[in-house]
Amino acid sequence: EQQVYTSGLHSNRPPFTFQTSEWEKLAKPVLSGSAWGYIHGNAGAGSTYTKNLASFSKYSIVPRRLVPSLKDAQGNELFSNASSTVLGEKLNFPIACAPVGVQKIFNSAGESAASRAAASIGVPYILSTASSTSIEDVAKASGEGGQRWYQLYWPAREHDDITISMLNRAKKAGYTALFVTLDTFVLGWRPSDMDNGYNPFLHADRIGVEIGFTDPIFRAKFKEEHGYDIDEDAKTHPIDTEGGSLSKAAQEWTKVVFPGHSKSWNDIKFLQEHWDGPIVLKGIQSVADAQKAVEAGVQGIVVSNHGGRQQDGGVPSLAVLPKIVDAVGEKIDVLFDSGVRCGADVIKAVALGAKCVLVGRPYIYGLALGGEEGVRHVLRALCGEIVMGMHLAGLRTLEDVDRDILVRDYDLF
Ligand code: FNR
Repeated sequence: EQQVYTSGLHSNRPPFTFQTSEWEKLAKPVLSGSAWGYIHGNAGAGSTYTKNLASFSKYSIVPRRLVPSLKDAQGNELFSNASSTVLGEKLNFPIACAPVGVQKIFNSAGESAASRAAASIGVPYILSTASSTSIEDVAKASGEGGQRWYQLYWPAREHDDITISMLNRAKKAGYTALFVTLDTFVLGWRPSDMDNGYNPFLHADRIGVEIGFTDPIFRAKFKEEHGYDIDEDAKTHPIDTEGGSLSKAAQEWTKVVFPGHSKSWNDIKFLQEHWDGPIVLKGIQSVADAQKAVEAGVQGIVVSNHGGRQQDGGVPSLAVLPKIVDAVGEKIDVLFDSGVRCGADVIKAVALGAKCVLVGRPYIYGLALGGEEGVRHVLRALCGEIVMGMHLAGLRTLEDVDRDILVRDYDLF
């Protein structure tokens, strides 16, 4: 990403600004009211979201001086190296694209464009169960070299056959790690979506149900129960262009993936029996749950509050990160998300012990603004800022990025 910086200095203009704080503002007018409400909206009064963003400014980076730069084989000076190993895979940068559903509502190029952009710069892409493109099509788009992980909205145990089917599809299509989201067994209380009467999973164009509609087991079950095909369902139930779906199949799929709270820690075994790669539990916010994750034998957790979209009045995700790392960081990979908006935020989360940081809304704003190119721009900007931020602070590799480089604001004055 040294390249992005130098090319900028040689008067190449980006597709849109490098100022990370502007992306959200620029995206608003290009999105429909309901798509904007969906991405920007939060749980309840938005207090978890607000605290997520504010939490990063509670820490400041203390730079080191007279640290000689890294050099390549020819002796040329290099910027810092931000590569690491996460879940057994080598990453060029300590970030990944967070799973975000229904990406076609932000840009018709959707998940294919986003995953292609991620693959082109070596950032893993996590595909959501709520995506508007199938598991197989995203695999094709991200291609041979694309690192891809699969996020599971875990159906109720009565639908184990559908869960197994999704896991097998993901494995076959080259998704190497499984992220199981634990905080969204029902969708949160989201006033913006309720005001708009908007549920993207029941939307008339049915793009929120693509993974279910392409699932052979779900299709077969639907046919057995109703006596006709899912594709027939689309014809027999006219599309309501106001947004409320009349599709029985979409409603049934939504019930499968947002099934209420029917599982406990013992059920993790079932996933381990049917998935042979790393399993990561997303949505952990307490030390006690992190310890349960270790006991359950998973390989990682994501310290995440879903970007403040589920629990209102919740703790900012960054605040719980250090305690969780202290408790389990030696035993499993601790990943982090919620509120990351720029390269310095990533450095701070890594300094507090995160192995990898998931970026949510920012790359979706990039998708809205410029499709594949827009996502690439956002990811390159973030990677560039991470590397430059480390370089300026005298942090040559991620090993140097530890808690000693941070001060808490109450220590400052
Ligand atoms: C999400 N997130 C999410 N998480 C998940 O596990 N499965 C999903 O389908 C979705 N869908 C989704 C849609 C939209 C529009 C947003 C903004 C978020 C949560 C996501 O993975 C991540 O946890 C947060 O986005 C992180 O917070 P920031 O980076 O958006 O502040």
